[in-house]
Amino acid sequence: MGDKYDSLSKNLIGELEKAQTELERKAFQLATSFEVAKELVSDQTLENRLNLALYNCMGLMGARSGAVLLQTQDSTLDLRSFKGFSPASSDPFTLSLNVFLERDIVKEPRNLHPEQVDGIWRPFFHEYRNKIQGFPSKIWIPLVVKERLIGFLCLGERLNSQGYSKEDQEWLATIASQAAVAIQNAILQDQNKELLLATIRSLAAAIDARDRYTAGHSGRVAASSFKIARLLEVDLAKARLIKEAGLLHDVGKIGVSEAILNKPGALTVEEYNTMKKHPVWSAQIITPLKQILPITSGVLHHHEWYNGNGYPDSLAGENIPWEARIITVADCFDAMTSNRSYRPALTVEHAIEELKNGAGSQFDPYIVELVTAAINDGNFPFVLEGQIVDLQL
Ligand SMILES: [Fe+2]
Repeated sequence: MGDKYDSLSKNLIGELEKAQTELERKAFQLATSFEVAKELVSDQTLENRLNLALYNCMGLMGARSGAVLLQTQDSTLDLRSFKGFSPASSDPFTLSLNVFLERDIVKEPRNLHPEQVDGIWRPFFHEYRNKIQGFPSKIWIPLVVKERLIGFLCLGERLNSQGYSKEDQEWLATIASQAAVAIQNAILQDQNKELLLATIRSLAAAIDARDRYTAGHSGRVAASSFKIARLLEVDLAKARLIKEAGLLHDVGKIGVSEAILNKPGALTVEEYNTMKKHPVWSAQIITPLKQILPITSGVLHHHEWYNGNGYPDSLAGENIPWEARIITVADCFDAMTSNRSYRPALTVEHAIEELKNGAGSQFDPYIVELVTAAINDGNFPFVLEGQIVDLQL
């Protein structure tokens, strides 16, 4: 009898221990998934969310390589994040995804194993494996949001050479479903941002068109401001913001009448005072976008002078935001080298002399020095009237 009870209680203890281990494992998985989800929503950019999802899954699974593929509008999968392998070609890596495959995975979301897959996925994986060597192909976790496949998170071999267990796969599926929502939100945010930018760019173009003497001015100031920012070794993301600020700096001229904008002679004091309000109006127009386009200070202060004699706030020297100091130089150079109602365009040489003359009074002397040194080195940072402006920088 005693032996029987002993063995029963041993079994019971064994079962309890197993249950506790399982419970602890689940609790750990939940806590980790929660931490990953928290990290994902704390970063707003799509690129960072893709990287965070990938690096976390790779770290948790000890995967040697990983990648995130995103489905674009035209049913192709683009490689958007990767680690642990290098795509052999510098060309963008894309895979065609037909509607049947998408329907299949959305109808029955499941992890795919490219090395064992059969059925309708076999030709797809055959094609991609021929296309790129070393691509993570142990497990592909679908990223599905509201019955739409937005992409795949792909993992390769594990450091411990083991396969992905059922529990691992459940865990990955939990993280992937949270990552998919975060990624989809970032995509939507990007699309909204693009839409807003397109609207404001149209507004900037409309302003330029109202003033027949400054057609194309904003685009040229944008491109030149970008180039000057890069001369100053401003990083690419910030230089792109300066470009947007250059594009929108005069958007407030919507509040200035065409009679004033196109007046051939000198402006009256009253007209000039109206004209001087345009940086404030520009800033007011773009302020609601400050979350996605933090460029208000560059726009607001593009008519400040280095010696404090500018407007709207009579800021001087380093108190003028550096973005504004860049735009001032690009703006004035373009104004000088364009035909105006009251004078013909200055030559490039003459305009450069004017920049030098204004260094320390109107312009930041360091920016003028940098720009003129670049010109001497054959690196002309301005876009001239009549030149094609590339705003896809
Ligand atoms: Fe202006």
